[in-house]
Amino acid sequence: MKSYKIAVMPGDGTGPEVTVEAVKVVKAAADKFGFKVELADFDFGGERYMRTGETLPDSGVEELRAFDTILLGAIGHPDVQPGILEKGILLKARFALDQYINLRPVKLFPGVECPLKGKGPDDIDYVVVRENTGGIYTGTGGFSMKDTPHEVATQSMVYNRYQVDRCLRYAFEYAAKHGKKARGKGDTNTLALCGKTNVLTYVYDLWWRAFNEMGEKDYPEINRDYYHVDATCMWMIKNPEWFDVLVTGNMFGDIITDLGAITQGGMGIAAGGNINPEGLSMFEPIGGSAPKYTGKGVINPLAAICAAQMMLESLGEDQAGQKIEQAVRTVTGTKLKSLAAGRMGYSTAEVGDLVAELVAG
Ligand code: IPM
Ligand code: MN
Repeated sequence: MKSYKIAVMPGDGTGPEVTVEAVKVVKAAADKFGFKVELADFDFGGERYMRTGETLPDSGVEELRAFDTILLGAIGHPDVQPGILEKGILLKARFALDQYINLRPVKLFPGVECPLKGKGPDDIDYVVVRENTGGIYTGTGGFSMKDTPHEVATQSMVYNRYQVDRCLRYAFEYAAKHGKKARGKGDTNTLALCGKTNVLTYVYDLWWRAFNEMGEKDYPEINRDYYHVDATCMWMIKNPEWFDVLVTGNMFGDIITDLGAITQGGMGIAAGGNINPEGLSMFEPIGGSAPKYTGKGVINPLAAICAAQMMLESLGEDQAGQKIEQAVRTVTGTKLKSLAAGRMGYSTAEVGDLVAELVAG
């Protein structure tokens, strides 16, 4: 029987509550589909930082390397200055483990209230492939003449061809395997580049050239499309059915995936994977630690459950993944009153039970 070693990092705020439900569903899937999971908990997060001054130390990264995958709850604590935990844990893990892809599906499930007028589940079904270890997030920067009227601050958007190519390669491969032929875009799968070639004439010129070269040479069957990032935001609202797979740099990807999340029903449902296609990946609900709901049992665990689904698929357990997605669709379509915390009509644990029962059934 196959067995997977899963590092579980529940983290802060509501992270632990939603992670428990995701683990419940993973265990139900393991029983149903005949694989084993060995789970180990890690307490990286705000509480540990306040106790020990440690975020994610190098030794922690080394410990994580012994696992097949990582399931993360949420990082962010109201008593810790912003940036410390985000950079020290989340970004540290992404960079140290070279998780150079951030895969964020934007899918509207049945029964979920969508803020876009006239749009339904058939219209909102695409993925964003966000470059995850470069760009402004790791470009050099700093202050000079700090705290004077002449203070200068810089933070550079830096990409090399290697980073761009490996991200594009993943996106083209993803479009070839999972594309669904975006509506109104012909009868082939479409990969769209989201950039800003009219202003960022160096960085996105590199992306643009690399995109076209790779597409022409290796993926002639995939339709190529291009949008500036500002226009991307507009079309994500107006015509989301145009999108199939979108690929973009780190900063733009961060921004457009929050927009995408709200079109699919918000943070209660949006999940993502920090993926190292050749190494160790980490899956997370993208919603954050929601301190004000902590410990109340009212937060929606579906985003964490969807993260667990992506995690199992990345391990090759596709059937288990599909079954979980089907279960989540049934729960949103026939059970929950709303995705919002406190208004689901069920507690956090009850939602986990509903999904787990459907997966087991
Ligand atoms: C995300 C988050 C992070 C990011 C923050 C918390 C560092 O917004 O995962 O999208 O900017 O990548
Ligand atoms: Mn973000």
